Amino acid sequence: MSGMTPRESLATQGFAGPFPRFASPEVIAELAAFFADLLERQPEQPLYGRYSVRDWHLVNETLRQVMTAPELVSTLAETTGADSLVLWRTKLFEKFPGDGAIDWHQEYGYFDGEEVGGHRPALFPLNHSGQWDWTLWMALTDVSEDDGVMEFVKGSQQAQYPKRMVRLSESGAYVDPRNRVRTKEELLSRAANNSLILDIDTRRVFEGVDADKYTLEELFDQLETHCEDLLAVVTEPFELEPGATRTVPMKAGEYIIFTERCMHRSRASLPTAKPRLAINGRYTLGDTWVYPQRTTRDTVDGSNLDISKHRCVPVHGTRLNPDNAYL
Ligand SMILES: [Fe+2]
Repeated sequence: MSGMTPRESLATQGFAGPFPRFASPEVIAELAAFFADLLERQPEQPLYGRYSVRDWHLVNETLRQVMTAPELVSTLAETTGADSLVLWRTKLFEKFPGDGAIDWHQEYGYFDGEEVGGHRPALFPLNHSGQWDWTLWMALTDVSEDDGVMEFVKGSQQAQYPKRMVRLSESGAYVDPRNRVRTKEELLSRAANNSLILDIDTRRVFEGVDADKYTLEELFDQLETHCEDLLAVVTEPFELEPGATRTVPMKAGEYIIFTERCMHRSRASLPTAKPRLAINGRYTLGDTWVYPQRTTRDTVDGSNLDISKHRCVPVHGTRLNPDNAYL
């Protein structure tokens, strides 16, 4: 990154890195194996009472150690300039061979779940004028240009791009389950445990349906009908000048830091590519109020998860919002 410090790069381009791996190859491989197994078995995430790829750092000690490691935290503090930080969310991002792109999007910083039609802010910053949240994206497998590499529009964090509502299945975050599910049994069990489409509640889709009477294709059609009314937000198409974007291939264990206000996407994966795994950590200023709706009786967030057992993990500084729940 031609002479720029990470802090300058984050401020001007919207992203910084890749930063070198600090965890041992064994630890990164352990995490990759943990998540590969999770995707395979789809166990209940104990905090949420259902399958989810979110917040396993509150369950898995190794993951928590990596996402709060001194090397990582000092890079984060140095790059963002934040005087205090909490880790409030982690999420696995997997890309299987043949998976499409997660299309261009930016997120202003409230994380209300609008990509799946939600409207519940997860973060309530005390100071709205500056930046209050950052994402750290760490590769758990090597990431080349062909298997779901991250791509950024340089400097795009300065502008809010026009968006519109579309059907969920047309949204950029939608991952078509037809590329993931091979049998009727798998379709029914994944619908029942909500592991089929993003964070959409699919438990009742096949209720009372006699699966023996239908082919897998017909069952997929029923699912599609169920999802027809669900809306999600997408970014309007926009023009790109040559050289306006940058892709960030990485080795396992390397990571980048970016603001979600910077327009970004993960590219499609070639059918011949290998599975790609990445973990992202979301960090916010220590004084941010996390999950304001926790204090109400309705503790379900914008992605349909009950966050009453969620905890923030302080990683840097001492200025912490007293209304948050901490680990
Ligand atoms: Fe994103």
